[in-house]
Amino acid sequence: MSSKGKIPRSSASRDGVKVEVCCGENCSARNSQKVFDTLKKEFENTEKCGCLGNCGKGLNVLIDEKRILHYSKEHNIVERVKSDEGEVFKRFTEEELTDDFLKDI
Ligand code: FES
Repeated sequence: MSSKGKIPRSSASRDGVKVEVCCGENCSARNSQKVFDTLKKEFENTEKCGCLGNCGKGLNVLIDEKRILHYSKEHNIVERVKSDEGEVFKRFTEEELTDDFLKDI
């Protein structure tokens, strides 16, 4: 299965969507607080989270623990959350977290 592409979601599930805005060091440096404030107004179930292991593509937003949205200045983040856009999210295991990665968080 490809790690990219759209993930089918029903429109009914969008009302209760769980949104997590990465507020790790790298995403915070890219103004994740402003993105969090914007999404919190639109989606009740919006929380902050720690590093998602995708710092190079951040800032990052995790939707329903399944798909991840990376920074894009061309597209509105609220519309992106409402759409089926995003990549399949894979949480790193401890074995996959190398020392090199840990220096980044
Ligand atoms: S700090 Fe956001 S993905 Fe690492």
